[in-house]
Amino acid sequence: TSTSRPVVLIAEKLAPSVLEVFGAEFEVRQVDGTDRPALLAAVSGADALLVRSATQVDAEVLKATDTLKVVARAGVGLDNVDVPAATDRGVLVVNAPTSNIVSAAEHAVALLLAVARQIPAANQTLQDRTWKRGAFSGVELLGKTVGVVGLGKIGQLFAQRLAGFGTTLIAYDPYASAARAAQLGIELVELDELLARADVISVHLPKTPETKGLINADALAKTKRGVLIVNAARGGLIDEDALVDAVRSGQVGGAGVDVFTQEPTTESVLFGVPGIVVTPHLGASTGEAQDRAGTDVAHSVRLALRGDFVPDA
Ligand code: MLT
Repeated sequence: TSTSRPVVLIAEKLAPSVLEVFGAEFEVRQVDGTDRPALLAAVSGADALLVRSATQVDAEVLKATDTLKVVARAGVGLDNVDVPAATDRGVLVVNAPTSNIVSAAEHAVALLLAVARQIPAANQTLQDRTWKRGAFSGVELLGKTVGVVGLGKIGQLFAQRLAGFGTTLIAYDPYASAARAAQLGIELVELDELLARADVISVHLPKTPETKGLINADALAKTKRGVLIVNAARGGLIDEDALVDAVRSGQVGGAGVDVFTQEPTTESVLFGVPGIVVTPHLGASTGEAQDRAGTDVAHSVRLALRGDFVPDA
């Protein structure tokens, strides 16, 4: 009977391909994961919970259910899932660690070029039916030093793409393999050296107590004047107030920011600042990445609910 089918609760917009993986074997329910009362009510009775980054899967959510077996993050970052609390309750947590890494790296490149050539501001002048060719002058990437902070999967993809622009690549990552960095033509340096040498800085780190505010006012004061900064990783890795001050003073020449300390949000100190280009957490928002993220986690959930072994992606 339909009531005996395992219940899969989808709390955010996921690719339609997810439903194909679940087929008729599972009962799929939807809830808005940012609506707390609705989420708490719906999770009781669910066998699996699927989220992106907007749903906070914390201890309260996990305590609201004794049926839940698996939490699936259709993406990479697990900062919105309390993994220890889930593990304590015997709830498996799965993610799709490679699903959207190319999209994230490409979005960081897009933000960098948008900042370097002032594309959003220039676009706005024409949309406003004014021709202000003389108002815009950009910078080339050729010959510039690019500092990658965090040389994991996304940082490496970003660096490989920037190499095509004829840049010099340096990176800070205490956990990176020197051999891998050398293979990619990247010089590993300490953070202070990266700050001092880079013309472009892009952060590619997970958000942890260790990385939060890593690029703060002190760090920004150590950069080259006019450095361009990109954050398509997590809000708050770069201190938001400090970044605004640095852009307004000209210490930072421009910044591209896809992620915010509070999300979703319609208010941020980063909005309305000339030189700062913002997007609403779009790094993973491509058809390809969402297809992969959705199907990868749906396959893992299906295995987990059947009681089968779930291999690491
Ligand atoms: C991720 O961690 O995968 C990204 O933030 C993208 C997303 O939230 O889907």
